[in-house]
Amino acid sequence: MNREKDIYNLLDCQQSARRQFLRFLLMSPLLGSAGLMAPWSFLTKTCSAWDGVSTATMIDEVHPSYDSPFPSGKYPLTRCSDATNVFQFKDVSRTKLSPKTFHFIQSGADDMKTVQANREAFDLLQIRARRLIDVSSVDTSVNIFGSAMKTPIILAPVGVQQQVHPEGELASARAAVSRNCLFTVAMLSSFSVGEVSTETQGPLWFQLYPSPDRKTTLQMLKQAEDAGSKVLVLTVDGPVRGNREREFWYQSHSKERTFPRMGNMEAIKGRLRIGDPSLTWDYIEWLKANTAMKVVLKGIVTHEDARMCRKYGADGLIVSNHGGRQEESNRGTIECLPEVVEAVDGKIPVLIDSGFRRGTDIFKALALGAQAICIGRP
Ligand code: FNR
Repeated sequence: MNREKDIYNLLDCQQSARRQFLRFLLMSPLLGSAGLMAPWSFLTKTCSAWDGVSTATMIDEVHPSYDSPFPSGKYPLTRCSDATNVFQFKDVSRTKLSPKTFHFIQSGADDMKTVQANREAFDLLQIRARRLIDVSSVDTSVNIFGSAMKTPIILAPVGVQQQVHPEGELASARAAVSRNCLFTVAMLSSFSVGEVSTETQGPLWFQLYPSPDRKTTLQMLKQAEDAGSKVLVLTVDGPVRGNREREFWYQSHSKERTFPRMGNMEAIKGRLRIGDPSLTWDYIEWLKANTAMKVVLKGIVTHEDARMCRKYGADGLIVSNHGGRQEESNRGTIECLPEVVEAVDGKIPVLIDSGFRRGTDIFKALALGAQAICIGRP
């Protein structure tokens, strides 16, 4: 529990440093005299009043195609069973979750331009439809690293799911297994990889954040192996945490103080710092030497790094920008995919995530050479 608090304190420190800087700017005579006070006075006003403000009135709109195609105010949705598409889960979640949790999920870095780019990049790709081909029996199954799946859809690692529902990852993993769909347990999941595996008895993958604490990392790896994970997803796009302003805004202004459980962290004995800004490619060699699991790098978006994956012995990669949560002004992942596929040259599986919401999005990724796609927020 103390370790979890440590993590939150660390995050709080990062944010309070940022806030102190903003306060310094606010007090600067330069801002006032230049007439730049207006936006900041708006922020201050909203800040003190926020707790009575409903989520819907706060700004989180990004791009029409990122949101439900139906105006949410006109056709308010409160049940997922009424949804006609995946976008509408977001409308429903708005009515079910606290603003803090809603924005924890929806947030992206800075002005959320990468979140936007992920969706817009799909819009730029159009399909050449061919006719009169027998499609009466369609097989969408795939097998990656011996994990057989009915569809090429994998549930991406999403941490602390108990923030959304008391059953957290146990419920989503059960749902995944019931659909023959692969579930990835995040290192920062509420329930440990062992608990998820006991609950579902189904195949699962485990996601790891690099850490300078190698000894404790080994304990984490053992935990995943003991739970039956055959694949280790190493997330490499987070040397530091993304500047998710909406998330931090609600976190610091909400009266709701929750420290959701982190099962994997509880289970290991040592301290495990998350993220290692000094990390370089030899970490992959170290990991490969210390685990029997296949190592898949998550967060690759360029052909240069795709080649490095091969050079350093990665068994696969996921083209991902963390759903736009880590860095601002990235390209949409579907735009990055062709150069990565070309660099990999069929030698290792290429998966992709970030912004996948429609069947046509999946179709485009498969057509461009991905073996499977992962989904996060939905
Ligand atoms: C994530 N993601 C994530 N990734 C990871 O490697 N470890 C983690 O613990 C988390 N946690 C997490 C929490 C939440 C609330 C979200 C929304 C996402 C990123 C995730 O694995 C995936 O890359 C993106 O979510 C994919 O983009 P979409 O489908 O959300 O647009």
